[in-house]
Amino acid sequence: AEVDVDPTSYDAGDHESFMRKEMLEQPAAAERVLRGRLDERFGTAHLGGLEMDPRETRAVRRVKVLGCGSAYYVGQMGASLIEELARIPADAEAASEFRYRDPVIEPDTLYVAVSQSGETVDTLLAVQEIQRKGGRVIGLVNVVGSAIARECGAGIYLHAGPEVAVASTKALTNMFLGFSLLALQLGRVRDLSVADGRRLIAGLQALPAAVEEVLAQEDALAAVAQRLAEAESLFFVGRVRGFPVAREGAQKFKEISYRHAEAYQTSELKHGPLALISEEVPTVAVVPDDELTERNVAALHEIAARKGPLVVVTHPGVDLGGLDVVRIDVPHLERELDPILLTIPLQLLAYHAAKHLGHDIDKPRNLAKSVTVE
Ligand code: G6P
Repeated sequence: AEVDVDPTSYDAGDHESFMRKEMLEQPAAAERVLRGRLDERFGTAHLGGLEMDPRETRAVRRVKVLGCGSAYYVGQMGASLIEELARIPADAEAASEFRYRDPVIEPDTLYVAVSQSGETVDTLLAVQEIQRKGGRVIGLVNVVGSAIARECGAGIYLHAGPEVAVASTKALTNMFLGFSLLALQLGRVRDLSVADGRRLIAGLQALPAAVEEVLAQEDALAAVAQRLAEAESLFFVGRVRGFPVAREGAQKFKEISYRHAEAYQTSELKHGPLALISEEVPTVAVVPDDELTERNVAALHEIAARKGPLVVVTHPGVDLGGLDVVRIDVPHLERELDPILLTIPLQLLAYHAAKHLGHDIDKPRNLAKSVTVE
C-alpha cells in the first residue's frame, strides 16, 4: 500500500500548487528548525532530542546516514558537512540498499536515518537492522510521532510543517539545517573552534533571508526552465560539495518534468558522458566559489566546445571566463552552507519546467509521497 497525504486536508491558499507554496515557505520553515537550538556563546547547537551527553558525543568515530530519494541526496550533503566540520569520517547510503548487503554495524558509529514522512519502509527497515545488531541510530524526521521517529527514540525533529507535494522542498532544506546543527555539536566537542562555531551560526542565522533572495529570482528562473523543458535529456553536474546538489537537481527535474536528467561529477564528464554533449543536450552546472572553481570552469569550456547549452548556478564574483552561459547567482554565506542555497534555484527550475509542460506537479505519475512497501 502507498500512503498519500490527502491534499484537501490542507489549504494551498492562493497558490497554484502545494510545491510552490512549500518552496515559498522555506525561509519561515528554516527559522523554525533553528529556533532555540543555536548557542552563540559557546558556538554550538543544543539538541536535547539526541539524548547523548558530551562523553557519548565525543565517542562517535564514524557517521553513517541512511535515507531514500531526496533524503538520501541531502544525506550526502549532511555527511560531507559533518566530515568537514567535525572531522569524523561520514558518508550516506541509500537505505533501500543498506540492509541487503549484510552491513557491518559498529558500536562507535552514529547512524542517522533521514526521512520527511518518517514512514518510508526502506528507511524503517534499515533502522531496525541497525538496532537488531546493537547500533545507535537517531532520526532526522519531519513528521512527529511517525514510525521512524518512534523506532529511533532519539533525534532531531525538522519542524518544516506539513509537506504535501511529492517533490520535497522545505523538508529537504530543514534536513540540511538539521545536519548543520548536528555537525556543529559533533564538531564542538572535538576540534572545531568556538570562532568557527560562531561563524557557522552567523551563516545559519542569515540563511532564511538568503533563501528569500533566491526565491525572488523566480521569474528569471521560470524563463530558463521553459527553455530547459524543451530538451529531451539533460545533465546536472557538480563536484565534491556540489555533486549532491546536482543529484538532487536531476532528481527533482526528472520526477516532475519527466525529462531524462542525469547527474554526474563534473570531473567524470571527460571519462564518458562528454560523448553525449551536443546542441540538444543542455547542462546545468553547479559552480560554487571555492577551491575547485577554476577546474569547474575548465570543464564548462569542454562542454561549450561541443556546443552544449549551459546554465550555471554559481556565486557572485565567480569569473566564468567569458563563456556564453545562462548565469544564476545565489548568495554566498559560509562555504559549508553552500549546498542548500545552490539547491533552491534547481527546485524552481524543475517546478517551472513541469508547469510549462502542463504536468500535475504535486502528484507526478508513478510516484507516491511516502512509499510504505518494499
Ligand atoms: C519517495 C518520494 C521522494 C522522497 C522519498 C523519501 O520516494 O517520492 O520524493 O524523497 O520517498 O521520503 P521520506 O518521507 O522518507 O523523506
